Amino acid sequence: MKNVVIVGAQWGDEGKGKVVDLYSAKAEYIVRYQGGNNAGHTLVVNGKKTVLHLIPSGILHADKVCLIANGVVFDPEVFFKEIDSLLSSGAITNAPYERVRVSDRAHVILPYHCALDAARETKAAGGKLGTTVRGIGPAYEDKVSRRGIRVGDLLDPKTLKEKLRHAIEEKNVLMAGLYGGSPVDLESLFESCVKLGEKLRPYVADVKSVLMTALAHKRAILFEGAQGTLLDIDHGTYPFVTSSNTIAGGALTGSGVGEGAIGSVVGIMKAYLTRVGSGPFPTEIEETEPELAEKIRTIGAEFGATTGRKRRIGWLDLVALKYAVEVNGLTGLALMKADVLNGLEFLRICTSYSLGGNTIYDLPSRAEDLARIEPNYEIYPCWPDYDAKKVEEFGDLPEELRGYIRKIEDFTGVPVVLLSVGPGREETLELSDPFTEVGKVH
Ligand code: IMP
Repeated sequence: MKNVVIVGAQWGDEGKGKVVDLYSAKAEYIVRYQGGNNAGHTLVVNGKKTVLHLIPSGILHADKVCLIANGVVFDPEVFFKEIDSLLSSGAITNAPYERVRVSDRAHVILPYHCALDAARETKAAGGKLGTTVRGIGPAYEDKVSRRGIRVGDLLDPKTLKEKLRHAIEEKNVLMAGLYGGSPVDLESLFESCVKLGEKLRPYVADVKSVLMTALAHKRAILFEGAQGTLLDIDHGTYPFVTSSNTIAGGALTGSGVGEGAIGSVVGIMKAYLTRVGSGPFPTEIEETEPELAEKIRTIGAEFGATTGRKRRIGWLDLVALKYAVEVNGLTGLALMKADVLNGLEFLRICTSYSLGGNTIYDLPSRAEDLARIEPNYEIYPCWPDYDAKKVEEFGDLPEELRGYIRKIEDFTGVPVVLLSVGPGREETLELSDPFTEVGKVH
């Protein structure tokens, strides 16, 4: 049994929730290792809608252990809201702390992080990044500048107050001086943190040790990435990125396991592209083909699960996908939402860019270059509407869809291991199992 990392291969929202749900059935431990409640999966349990931002969606499979590891930035208020909603929908029963463990090393998102994120989005010079305003960036900044509060700190009131004083010192000056906000009151912040710590105590664990025991007993582990490769702080379209390492390497630093613990890395990709928030998007069609963008957005329900914002729509970009294959070391691809394109007249696939009169085959590093590159497209016929319920194997797929998949595989050198042709669990074709084999070619 191999352990599997899944990552978003594009700008997030590729449909990781569905893959995590499917793969959770094969794993015993499901680990979130980066990001925070900027992610979002909408799930329907017993007819009741549950939106999870922080707790891995593997929680819906009985007996699976969900771990929130050190690389996550953790908002305790959001965590308890999710626990309450899972309890009230019956998705989990009593003693949820047996099913969900939170690393004592994870950094805590506190209200001043959200306030700073919001102040920058509304008032800062230099333009909006279009963040989710969940305090993600400011919490990671505190981690790196070594004034962060970790989950373990919430459990020790004796040392917590001094740490909080240190954490808010500069922020109060910044909020009052630059953003015209009000300063944080240390006493009330301290009291609420102590209360949260007490409530959190039963969930807190040394997650790295939990993982070491799981590895020693050869239990299958699924590492669930959030956001997407092109939002990675180092390898994404900087500065229009999130503040964590969203690539597969983040699973190692974000959880404390070594490289040998990972067997397969599956990149989740959509048959087209979306991006939410600001930043360059070479194959975007909002200006060039606005009616088609609207059609895809409506059929694909392309609105953010966290903020409700419209997702920007574009054609599949194989140059960016190949880049994702490289920086993640992908061993397989999961192709999602192919059904959204059913019956379109034709499809465009970007296979190179033009920049300043040159043809280029790699993603430029600077946002300014990314904003001015022109995509070069190949045109492909689209597959007709077909009955996905009758598809049992690769050969049952329409010829054009098989051709699209082969094009992706040939260009990237990585096999498609899973194809999703509808939102339901049954509307999925698993071409190979990343827990037992590294992408066989069909
Ligand atoms: P932040 O992560 O809230 O700081 O936002 C930084 C950028 O990442 C913004 O463009 C967000 O829209 C984007 N982003 C953050 N989380 C997600 C996600 O789960 N899906 C898609 N985009 C995201």
